[in-house]
Amino acid sequence: MALLETEALVKEFGGLVATDDVDLTVEEGERVSIIGPNGAGKSTLINLITRRLNPTSGDIRFKGESITRMDPHEVVQRGVSKSFQTASIFPDLTVRENAEIAALAAEHGSFSFNFLRHRESLTDVHQLTEETLDAVGLLRQADVPASDLPYGDKRRLEIGIALAAEPDLLLMDEPTAGMSPEETKSTVDLIEEVKRELGLTFVLVEHDMEIVFSISDRIVVLNRGRVIAEGTPDEIRGNEEVQEAYLGGVEL
Ligand SMILES: Nc1ncnc2c1ncn2[C@@H]1O[C@H](COP(=O)(O)OP(=O)(O)OP(=O)(O)O)[C@@H](O)[C@H]1O
Ligand SMILES: [Mg+2]
Repeated sequence: MALLETEALVKEFGGLVATDDVDLTVEEGERVSIIGPNGAGKSTLINLITRRLNPTSGDIRFKGESITRMDPHEVVQRGVSKSFQTASIFPDLTVRENAEIAALAAEHGSFSFNFLRHRESLTDVHQLTEETLDAVGLLRQADVPASDLPYGDKRRLEIGIALAAEPDLLLMDEPTAGMSPEETKSTVDLIEEVKRELGLTFVLVEHDMEIVFSISDRIVVLNRGRVIAEGTPDEIRGNEEVQEAYLGGVEL
């Protein structure tokens, strides 16, 4: 059984079909990138999966269960986490407090679904907090107010907050947008690390093709809401239709 499956998923905004009959399958442990030109419907697809948007029709299944009509927080509780929502950071709290809240929320959210995930005590929460800060390289900045972090570190904290929820699926929408080259590099290193050490399943939306081709097991190409190609990085690299028609001759 696939971890995530969308079936004939459609999202219309007025007369515009932003998601057009999308069948997306993500297997456990798989790293999938979604690419496509501006307005192709990448963010819409992510927002349908997190239930921030209601689909017009179609079905979304996570671990075999339909999540199509669930509330966003129910989807989070089942193990879907989205990173890179700046709104997830509390600017006045310290970095550690932010991570702590995420760790506490994770405990609260998941205990009824997965016994093993239940953290029995505050000690466990503190431990998870420190591990999370360590994982995203923010231990030294733990006592700084989150608002004082440089932009790149803020985004790393967001990844930390998403990871503290111990998700089974991590969704990332343009994690390196607006970052300096160094910040981009450290974020990519972090995602690589997450991939290597945690073996986490993720779906990444990213414009930077170098990142996409180095990090993905499989690439799904969207255009005008439709999946026009999918395959391994090598298959997509060699796909002329993708190259010429849909990426405007960008070298892959
Ligand atoms: N809330 C909305 N109301 C109306 N139209 C929307 C809404 N959100 C997105 N759209 C439209 O749906 C289409 C897909 O948008 P979406 O943001 O999913 O594209 P995207 O692939 O993420 O683009 P980008 O690469 O620029 O982030 C676009 O034409 C966009 O204008
Ligand atoms: Mg987008």
